[in-house]
Amino acid sequence: MDQVTQVREKIDIVALLSEYIPLKKTGANFKAPCPFHSEKSPSFVVSPERQIWHCFGCGKGGDVFTFLMDYEHVDFPEALRDLAKRAGITLEQKSWQAGSASKKEKIFAINSIASEFYHYILITHPAGKKALEYLINERGITMDLINTFMIGFAPTSGEALSNYLLEKKKQIREDLIEAGISIVRRGRVADFFINRIMFPLIEHRGDVIGFSGRIFDTSSPDVPKYINTRDTIVYHKGTHFFGLNLAKESIKKEAKALIVEGEFDVIACFKHGIRNAIAIKGTALTDQQASLLKRFTSNVALCLDQDNAGQIAVKRSTPVLEKKGLNTSVVIVPSGKDADEALKNGELAFKMAIKHDINVYDFLLGKAEEANSSASADGKQKISRDIIPFLVTIENEIVKEHYVRKLSRVLDTSYEAVIKEMNKIVKKENQQPFIIQSKEKKSRKENLEFYLLALLFQNTNIFKGINSIMDFFTEEIFDNSANAKIFSYLISYCKQSVLFDMNSFTQILPAELMDSFNAFFLFPLPPFLTEEKYEKEVIKSAKDIKLLYLRGKIQLIGREMRKKEIEGDLDGLKLLQDEFINLTNMLGEC
Ligand code: CTP
Ligand code: MN
Repeated sequence: MDQVTQVREKIDIVALLSEYIPLKKTGANFKAPCPFHSEKSPSFVVSPERQIWHCFGCGKGGDVFTFLMDYEHVDFPEALRDLAKRAGITLEQKSWQAGSASKKEKIFAINSIASEFYHYILITHPAGKKALEYLINERGITMDLINTFMIGFAPTSGEALSNYLLEKKKQIREDLIEAGISIVRRGRVADFFINRIMFPLIEHRGDVIGFSGRIFDTSSPDVPKYINTRDTIVYHKGTHFFGLNLAKESIKKEAKALIVEGEFDVIACFKHGIRNAIAIKGTALTDQQASLLKRFTSNVALCLDQDNAGQIAVKRSTPVLEKKGLNTSVVIVPSGKDADEALKNGELAFKMAIKHDINVYDFLLGKAEEANSSASADGKQKISRDIIPFLVTIENEIVKEHYVRKLSRVLDTSYEAVIKEMNKIVKKENQQPFIIQSKEKKSRKENLEFYLLALLFQNTNIFKGINSIMDFFTEEIFDNSANAKIFSYLISYCKQSVLFDMNSFTQILPAELMDSFNAFFLFPLPPFLTEEKYEKEVIKSAKDIKLLYLRGKIQLIGREMRKKEIEGDLDGLKLLQDEFINLTNMLGEC
């Protein structure tokens, strides 16, 4: 057995997917809202029996590997590496060492060694002594926190880490440069981070993807306070959160993520028992970050700096979060500029502020009211200009109406006037309503074809179903070519075997038909209480399909006949007439 198969057999699809989405048992299968497109009623189905999944909304489907690849945006070797780890299988090098996965793997390894090196320098080496004192005495960071967050120090020498990685760890310089750990300075390999307190950025799956380095002596005002790893194949600015690796379980448990500005804010929160805090690192939240959050919770509290930049970040982040369907609130930091300072000034007051977070739209409206007088026409216009662009983005109509009403009350104007202003904005921005394009709409006939095949494949006695329609149903009746092909495979299989075995059947199916087949297998059907009712349903839907087929054909021939008449082709007309009569007779039999 090859290693891929070994891994596939060890991983249970239901157990794996349950960690990502809330699966609910329905009959023999499990269901959930699809994580790959936005929907209200669940059309994502998982079969424990066949270890496959399929979404009837967006059409995606596959096995444990494809799920992980789609969900985590990783390639096959990476998915394999992850699942092998879970399954406790040690992969032979060749299974995963090809392509970009091994490169990423290499960079993770280098980053991991680097983070240990920095950490070691900070906690034990004399070179890290001053930084350590700064952290403990001036920032209130305990040794426990230093260990938990793997905080480190990049020494001043400028080459120590690079040399260590090259000489002791036998790495090559190209990889160090690609990891963003080293640069070439005057023809020599040198360290990228120098004389900085180092925070490893650890992705939620546990890999070290990059670092941020902070200066701690403010003697030279020209250097930037923070430097981050430049973009590499594993680190992309604005796609991760600092602290998510430690916070993700709490975020799930508390059903809320607390978004703070920087590393020290996360660490201070952690110190005071607030374990769901993660940092965006001084920018507005991006689409990718919102998607990442969505995996863990649908509630987000923004606890950003009280300065202007922080408030702009709230405004920028709100529509991004709204678009992903996340409920957003704002925590008003009671004293100090950020969470870190607020906690120093009063733990209790800060915790109360978190508890009394305000819905973001109430917050924004409040801010607009504070800044302008709602008594004058001018003030009303300013408030509405501030707030309406946010209201138009609200996805939920009930929530939207709530705020439209609130705004009309605040401005002492009519509900209709607010709506009119909103429509102007929608027109101006030519906003496309945010709907995921569902696949092309199927015709009624195609839907019935699908239903019939689902009925056939989901019954324990496929032979019985087939036999009941054999004398009047053939593969030409299908419109959809995949349906027709699968049906003809089924018929020839049934002719050759006495028992239907799902596995041996899937082995004869060509790969390109597998997705369609999985869909039939997983399509949610109503329960049929008796074999009789089931058989009736099979016959009825097969007849309905045939009826539609015949009607279509008759229409077509009717048109052809008119053509022949005009052309004066009487022989051709006669042939068509015979066929027409034949088809009409068949229609009568249905
Ligand atoms: N940041 C950054 N690059 C910069 C400045 C800031 O990546 N040049 C990020 C850091 O993650 C930082 C966060 O933005 O923690 C907030 O920046 P700032 O408000 O300037 O940080 P302070 O709270 O003043 O910094 P500290 O708590 O570290 O003293
Ligand atoms: Mn700070």
